[in-house]
Amino acid sequence: MPFYETIHIRPQTQLHLWKIDEPLDYLIAGVLLQDYSLIRLHKLKSEVHQKGFLAVRHLLQHLGYADTDLTYDTSGKPHLSDGHHVSISHSYGFAAVAISDENLGLDIEAMRPKVLKIAPRFMDVDTHLTGLSLAEQLQKATIIWSIKEAVFKIKNEKGISYPNHISEQPFAPAEGTTVARLDFKHQTEFFPVHFIQREDYIFVCVFES
Ligand SMILES: CC(C)(COP(=O)(O)OP(=O)(O)OC[C@H]1O[C@@H](n2cnc3c(N)ncnc32)[C@H](O)[C@@H]1OP(=O)(O)O)[C@@H](O)C(=O)NCCC(=O)NCCS
Repeated sequence: MPFYETIHIRPQTQLHLWKIDEPLDYLIAGVLLQDYSLIRLHKLKSEVHQKGFLAVRHLLQHLGYADTDLTYDTSGKPHLSDGHHVSISHSYGFAAVAISDENLGLDIEAMRPKVLKIAPRFMDVDTHLTGLSLAEQLQKATIIWSIKEAVFKIKNEKGISYPNHISEQPFAPAEGTTVARLDFKHQTEFFPVHFIQREDYIFVCVFES
């Protein structure tokens, strides 16, 4: 399946999803890549990553952007030539691009039981998971992991610890929103969070304001 959905997260923020069902050859043939992208594509070792990388280019093409409209700074953060903020994520079966007039971070995660094993290492399990069914714990722990990755993509600073510096206001998954808090370098910042689920995947958008 090609283009999957556009979700209007905020008036000036759209989240675009691509479901990656196509063979690698099809994805390669369908986009025109700049030299930088060709080099990066060939450096990616796994087919899953190659497909994710190419699906992002298909999404951009679907939205009227050329591959040359996307550049990266030295940290790996992507930028669009027209000045819009962009954030990118890919995970197995989905690729996503969020485009906004606000600085934002996007993360996709597949809900996998492994997240519950490592949850005590990255989140406050007592606050967020107590009393929930196993399925609810899986969903919520995945949302929280994604929130932390998305906050990291906005802040982009070395030394941020997921368990020690990023926390989330208590929320129910059905609400679709919460607020993340970053306590780092003697400063506290709050980030509005929007999340949705499609199939077995969680999509999180976090805003700087
Ligand atoms: C950068 C990072 C957030 C990417 O997340 P990921 O789940 O591995 O991969 P995703 O598919 O969600 O995101 C990858 C995309 O993020 C974007 N990205 C990469 N580095 C970025 C950065 N510094 N800032 C913003 N966006 C970035 C890129 O667009 C990249 O895709 P592309 O290169 O194909 O265009 C992650 O690799 C990372 O470094 N996390 C921090 C880990 C950490 O400090 N953990 C502390 C635990 S205590």
